[in-house]
Amino acid sequence: MPRLSSRLLTWYRQNKRTLPWRDHPDPYAVWVSEIMLQQTRVETVIPYFERWMRLFPTINDLAKASEHDVLNAWEGLGYYSRARNLHKAARIVAEKYSGELPRNLDNLRALPGIGRYTVGAIASMAFGMDAPTLDGNLRRVFARLFDVTEPADSPAGEKILWSLAAEHLPKGQAGDYNQALMDLGATICLPRNPRCLICPLMKMCKARENGTQEARPVLKPKKEIPHHVHAAGVIVGQIDNLSCVLLAKRPSKGLLGGMWEFPNGRVDGDPARGLVNALKTGYGLKVQKKEALGVVQHTYTHFKITVHAFHCESPSIPKEKDLKWVRIAELEDYPMGKIDRQIARMLNDV
Ligand code: ADE
Repeated sequence: MPRLSSRLLTWYRQNKRTLPWRDHPDPYAVWVSEIMLQQTRVETVIPYFERWMRLFPTINDLAKASEHDVLNAWEGLGYYSRARNLHKAARIVAEKYSGELPRNLDNLRALPGIGRYTVGAIASMAFGMDAPTLDGNLRRVFARLFDVTEPADSPAGEKILWSLAAEHLPKGQAGDYNQALMDLGATICLPRNPRCLICPLMKMCKARENGTQEARPVLKPKKEIPHHVHAAGVIVGQIDNLSCVLLAKRPSKGLLGGMWEFPNGRVDGDPARGLVNALKTGYGLKVQKKEALGVVQHTYTHFKITVHAFHCESPSIPKEKDLKWVRIAELEDYPMGKIDRQIARMLNDV
């Protein structure tokens, strides 16, 4: 029987997806795409990738850009630490490596936001090295091909899957092989209802043989995530005769670091009652609550949040560098997470 890799590569040659970063001559393009593709689907990434490469065509351009412009270009992709790390790493590469990604894998791995997966992807796809990689698609494909019963998200499962990724790697063709596995995972070896009958690897798939495809990969039971309720104040004021709202800048580290939001805080019980206190405690803001504006929900990796937004007025605003009056017409220029962007758009709809 032909080897796994030769079957797969034959299939890939006939079925590979046309993607803007594929066979791109610039390792930077591969790097950007691989960071964007973590946790995010190919179809979502394509327009972001194309815009990013227009805005920041080289590592040096990215290094010179402001964090504000970088976060704006990333807005909507989520997991914003990816953008901040890419930016930090670009500054290091500009300074230490004259704007070229280092080919030394230890140096590559030492850059912010570049882990084992990204090193393998860049090394194989951009530098033609014989390096394995393992993302969610590859985990599923290998867990099925070899009917791995160890949980894929456990250290033991990870170890098995990384060894499988390395074991079958065809010398000199790792880039295509890794991407073939990604395409197979995205188009054939789907999480639910895998299309086994048209799979080029059907005959060598142990899960198919055992009828366990739907049960692979095995994952550890998920913990229930907490649900937080927040109240947010949309504090409206006239500054130089222009309608403005007060935005707060989040601390530069952590969730949505460096992005803008409507002042808000966690509340217990009735959000309309908790609002005034939450804004006093969190920002030193004294507000009067007016009418309700709307309710927005979002699920992050570790928690779910419901935000109740209210129109507010404030007789005085503390002089804080992280609070800023912003014209309603200019809200789109300020990078925000999904929740706050929805609130901002409610204002523009009024
Ligand atoms: N997912 C992550 N990286 C990818 C790539 N290079 N091609 C297709 N899907 C991917």
